[in-house]
Amino acid sequence: MTDQEGADWIPAGADLSRPSAARIYDYLLGGAHNLAPDREVAQKLEAIQPQVAAVARRNRAFLRRVVRFMLDQGVRQFLDLGSGIPTVGNVHEVAQAVDPQAKVVYVDYEPVAVAHSRMLLDGNPHAEALEADATNADAVLKSEPVQRLLDLDEPVGLLAITLGHYLPEVRGVFATYRDALGKGSYLALSHLTNDFAVLSDPRVAETMRKTQDHIYPRTKDEVLALFEGFELVEPGLTTSANWRPDRLSAVVDPEEDGLYAGVGRKP
Ligand SMILES: C[S@@+](CC[C@H](N)C(=O)[O-])C[C@H]1O[C@@H](n2cnc3c(N)ncnc32)[C@H](O)[C@@H]1O
Repeated sequence: MTDQEGADWIPAGADLSRPSAARIYDYLLGGAHNLAPDREVAQKLEAIQPQVAAVARRNRAFLRRVVRFMLDQGVRQFLDLGSGIPTVGNVHEVAQAVDPQAKVVYVDYEPVAVAHSRMLLDGNPHAEALEADATNADAVLKSEPVQRLLDLDEPVGLLAITLGHYLPEVRGVFATYRDALGKGSYLALSHLTNDFAVLSDPRVAETMRKTQDHIYPRTKDEVLALFEGFELVEPGLTTSANWRPDRLSAVVDPEEDGLYAGVGRKP
């Protein structure tokens, strides 16, 4: 039994007994699509590091800036891997505000994230949510929504915003997506690391190990390796708040900012 049993955002048959990154992140962002086990983990993380919700909010702001940047570069189609539970400023909202024809495919393996995305996208012919494991890159790329909505010969904005650190093996996965994308495509990612003070406490990874999404923090060189085949755009690999901050962004010391963040262009 769950505290929200019967809520319309809980997909029938989904096993929500184990906390998930999607719902923990939703809680940290002030969302309502989370359950008691998720909140328990989120609160443990906040007890270890009170800045964890601020890190999540800055990551979300990085995502919005990245989408606007890619739109400015002429990108009109987005593949959002590990897209999470919809919250303020979703990719299709930012993109379709600029171009109502912009295409978005969201990919997540968490049933609440996918069900809620589908509810939100009902009646939107240019955006769809795919329930899939992003590590099955071939299956994602051949999936019906990707084939129907995205033209992979044209530039695509590939988003892997706080996805990589949930994957034990990442380089091959990212390389498969890269190889499938046309010239002028972009990769944007943010990634957890122990290089900065704010999230380096080993209890963060330990706490996440009790959920269905383990985390694998990576070093700067390991994160840079994910951009193989892409040319980093200015300012290179930095932290989320420090990637092309806008007038709404505060200046944040990388030690507090915590997540590596960058954008690369496929030449
Ligand atoms: C912290 S959330 C980030 C959501 C969004 N990208 C953002 O940054 O605002 C990470 C998401 O990645 C998803 N995820 C983790 N591993 C995945 C995998 N192998 N395939 C698909 N989704 C995955 C989780 O379910 C979760 O929704």
